[in-house]
Amino acid sequence: MIKTLTILLALFLLPTLVFAQDKFAVETKDNSLIFSKRDDGRVFYAYYGLKNNIPESLAMLREVYPCAGGDFVGEPALRVVHSDGNTSTLLLYQSHEIQKVDDNITEMRIHMKDAHYPFYVTLIFKAYYRENLIAASTELINRGEEPVTVYNYASQSLPVRANAYHMTQFHGRFFYEAEMVEEKLTPGIKILDSKLGVRAHQMRSPFFLLAPNQPVQENQGEVYGATFAWSGSFQFAFEVGGSEETWNDLGITMGVNPFAAQFALEPNTPFRTPEMLTVYSAEGTCKMSRDYHAWGRKYGMRDGDKPRSVLLNNWEATYFAFDHDKLVSLFQGAKDAGFELFLLDDGWFGNKHPRNDDTAGLGDWDYNRAKLPHGIAGLCREAERIGIPFGIWVEPEMVNPQSELFETHPDWIIHQPHRPLHLQRNQLILDLTNPEVKEFVYNVTADLLRKNPYISFIKWDTNRYITNGGSSYLPPEKQSELVWRYHKALYEILDRTAKEFPHVRMMLCSGGPGRIDYKALSYFHEFWPSDNTYPLRRIFMQWSFSHFFPSIAQAAHITTRGDTSIKFAFDVAMSCRLGMDVDLENTSEEDFEFIKSAIAEYKNIRDVVQLGVLYRLISPYDSPRCALMYVNDDKSRAILFVYQMEDDESGEKRVALKGLNPDAVYRIREINTASPVIAEREMTGAALMRGDKTFPLSQRATSMLVELTKQ
Ligand code: DGJ
Repeated sequence: MIKTLTILLALFLLPTLVFAQDKFAVETKDNSLIFSKRDDGRVFYAYYGLKNNIPESLAMLREVYPCAGGDFVGEPALRVVHSDGNTSTLLLYQSHEIQKVDDNITEMRIHMKDAHYPFYVTLIFKAYYRENLIAASTELINRGEEPVTVYNYASQSLPVRANAYHMTQFHGRFFYEAEMVEEKLTPGIKILDSKLGVRAHQMRSPFFLLAPNQPVQENQGEVYGATFAWSGSFQFAFEVGGSEETWNDLGITMGVNPFAAQFALEPNTPFRTPEMLTVYSAEGTCKMSRDYHAWGRKYGMRDGDKPRSVLLNNWEATYFAFDHDKLVSLFQGAKDAGFELFLLDDGWFGNKHPRNDDTAGLGDWDYNRAKLPHGIAGLCREAERIGIPFGIWVEPEMVNPQSELFETHPDWIIHQPHRPLHLQRNQLILDLTNPEVKEFVYNVTADLLRKNPYISFIKWDTNRYITNGGSSYLPPEKQSELVWRYHKALYEILDRTAKEFPHVRMMLCSGGPGRIDYKALSYFHEFWPSDNTYPLRRIFMQWSFSHFFPSIAQAAHITTRGDTSIKFAFDVAMSCRLGMDVDLENTSEEDFEFIKSAIAEYKNIRDVVQLGVLYRLISPYDSPRCALMYVNDDKSRAILFVYQMEDDESGEKRVALKGLNPDAVYRIREINTASPVIAEREMTGAALMRGDKTFPLSQRATSMLVELTKQ
């Protein structure tokens, strides 16, 4: 008995470093995050890096949660005005605890209290051991009698100490999303943020890379990755300098954007910030991405271990111009080509104000009787008869002024009084802070799914951001809580949907990537990265998003966009979750046969592509070609993608592969081509990883898709 207890105790203590009283830490497989308590009770970061490289003596790097108003003069993590008007907060250590949540997750809680006021802060660090990921959040509790006003409430304030700081952001705009740009930070503050409220990530993704000392590298060097699990406005403030003690250091304050987001913290009402998810890698970004992918598949999305269906979407095939017969003929084509799901996009609803373009009908979720005389039920019957699963598009948070919903409930929208209506894509956002509106929005999808149990897939869209951000439901003193309360309501709706319809798969779409973050994704199975399906552009986007999200989460559809061959388009889309937006009725026989065979090939390789381990080999940002590969767990299969993006006759066109078993012999098979160019049929893993093999592409928009199978 005593022996068993000792073993159990040892197991539970294992992932926690044992330190003197004033130091405490959480660990992952490779890394340690260590804190240090000063004699006066203030707590500092002491180390975040490899656990086998901890310096003998640890510095006090940066206060763990710097507060405004006292002796800290940089960008604060916390800014509170206490009920008596005191604008400063002085947080002192009270206690900490480290608990094993399960065999992979350890949670450290550092409890702090203001030196004078009954204002409590708990810093929560959840360490995912195998995935090397640390999720940081903060809980605030006001145990006074009066409310206090909270202005800044970051999720984390992380220090990095190096000679130089290279930060990569993922910025963009509609159609040109997630473009990676690296810059060397200079003294002062660099802020990456969004103030868009809803669809908040349209112009800047809520993630970044930070490489100390030298520019970021794929397979070597240090890098910190960070992504914010929150769909509203965010702020990442990179401050080189910040206080006299740490003049050359970098402090990164990350969390909800404090811009116009203050709130009154009522007594005894805990407030918890969203989580900041960081991964540190000492072996470059690719290892960091592999850790994010493993975490994402297991904890960050729904059913991340289940391969996804190949789907046909009618959006770019028909846009709004379809009817019952057209859709049924597409079902048949989809079935014949080997698709496993048909997705009906925008345009199926609205009668008084039919949704025949984007000017009308949003909000009126009744099927359009002219286009669909047999209703959604009739479409489901036909899809079932043909044997193709059926999915449908909704945009429940939005309304067109030309709609019966707006005519009945003009007060349900987000809008400021005394201001003209400001439309984007001819639409307005419904005010989810109003419980009546929240219930309506929930029932848009729920009614559809209850009435039509054959629907097995929902594409949830959101096509504008907030302007004139006011609520006619919230009282004046709570107007600044709009974005926060909107997202609380949205997550409740999504959570209820996932619970009531657990078998229904969900695509997260927001006019492209306006809402791609790990909080939103936790209710979904995948996301739509961009409306730009031009394959040469998608290569960049898929590369960018792959830094934080696994391929199984990225929907990649082939359309007629772009001037590339159908093989090239397939080779690009097959590196993620494959789908198509084409009118199969107007596809040539030759293309139809190609589509059929490529889909069959994809079904054969998708377990490796969707669930395998990613190695990014050649960056499209650095050269006119791009290469990446996925390897399965036991290294018996790998899939390699090589894309030539510009004409280029130079060089030997070698690609050094990664992640294979050096001693194994691999059979090499080119996919999606009737005339393979690779002469060798077999090679050892060692030779392939040395770069002995050339992949001779020299013309713009050509590609090779290669399967490697261990013999
Ligand atoms: C924007 C999405 O990104 C598209 O895929 C499509 O669903 C349209 N909305 C429909 O309006």
